[in-house]
Amino acid sequence: MAKKDIDWSNIGFGYIKTDYRYVSNFKDGSWDEGTLTTDDMITLNECACVFQYAQTCFEGLKAYTTEDGHIVTFRPDLNAERMMNSAARLEMPQFPKERFIDAITKLVAANADFVPPYGSGATLYIRPYMFGTNPVIGVKPASEYQFRAFCTPVGPYFKGGAKPITIRVTDFDRAAPHGTGHVKAGLNYAMSLHAIVDAHKQGYDENMYLDAATRTYVEETGGANFIFVTKDGTVVTPKSDSILPSITRRSILYVAEHYLGLKTEERPVPFTEVKDFAECGLCGTAAVISPVGKIVDHGNEICFPSGMEKMGPVIQKLYDTLTGIQMGHIEAPEGWIHVI
Ligand code: PLP
Ligand code: COI
Repeated sequence: MAKKDIDWSNIGFGYIKTDYRYVSNFKDGSWDEGTLTTDDMITLNECACVFQYAQTCFEGLKAYTTEDGHIVTFRPDLNAERMMNSAARLEMPQFPKERFIDAITKLVAANADFVPPYGSGATLYIRPYMFGTNPVIGVKPASEYQFRAFCTPVGPYFKGGAKPITIRVTDFDRAAPHGTGHVKAGLNYAMSLHAIVDAHKQGYDENMYLDAATRTYVEETGGANFIFVTKDGTVVTPKSDSILPSITRRSILYVAEHYLGLKTEERPVPFTEVKDFAECGLCGTAAVISPVGKIVDHGNEICFPSGMEKMGPVIQKLYDTLTGIQMGHIEAPEGWIHVI
């Protein structure tokens, strides 16, 4: 199929309308069979639960063109499982894992000419989501839902691509203990909008959130988990019940141990320890691994030895190995690559 006429190497992280999206509706206790549609508009009742009480969750994953020309997605089974956990926490019906993978497969195949070519630096971002559709005015879950998935070609999440970014420690909290920080609920992102707009106004690329209860441990940013590298080359990542269990982070820990022979630690990370790390990065589907050069905590600067020009050496190796697996020129662990 001829690829669309898009300047792949120069697109940012934005929405470009593609030809097809996948839709399935839940009513009377079950999901319908689902279908692809060209209609990008949704018409809902004014009192739909998603509008009143933000009953919605979502996922994010990418499709890649491999070196040998296949289209693949990366560990979609884990996105399916996480969306089931999000749905359960928000009192929504679960969209079954096999249905999720089938929907993604059909969606990407139908939009194959929007999947950026190998080597372009762009990828196809897939956004599955689910929301309560019927009118609800007393606070209770909806009884009808829509599962939908669309896709859009994207470039780097942070302008400048692999250039280290500067972040600040924010006074806002992202997630309460026993709240919804560990699931991908739209509400977690609504409440982060003020903090990110303010961070940008002050000249920072992102916010570092600390744990809401004690404000002493590192949690995550609005859209990615943290990885740190110690001076002796150990990969450290924060453990917390109120951060999103990033699929990228889980994959990086595996790659660090099994491909690069590095030591890894997943544990609570006190903010006071951050100044002693050699490298820092943000990891996620959108962020891939974005290096952090500087963290500003109320005027106090932590500048990582890796500097503001390029990724540190360990993060670079992790990045090269992870993206190598995703793009098909490094052999993937069993089950990580789903061919479309
Ligand atoms: N943390 C938050 C708050 C996110 O929104 C995301 C993005 O999905 C991540 C972490 C990274 O998760 P993943 O690697 O599964 O994309
Ligand atoms: C992702 O990495 O897929 C995300 O959801 C992060 C952000 C775009 C919200």
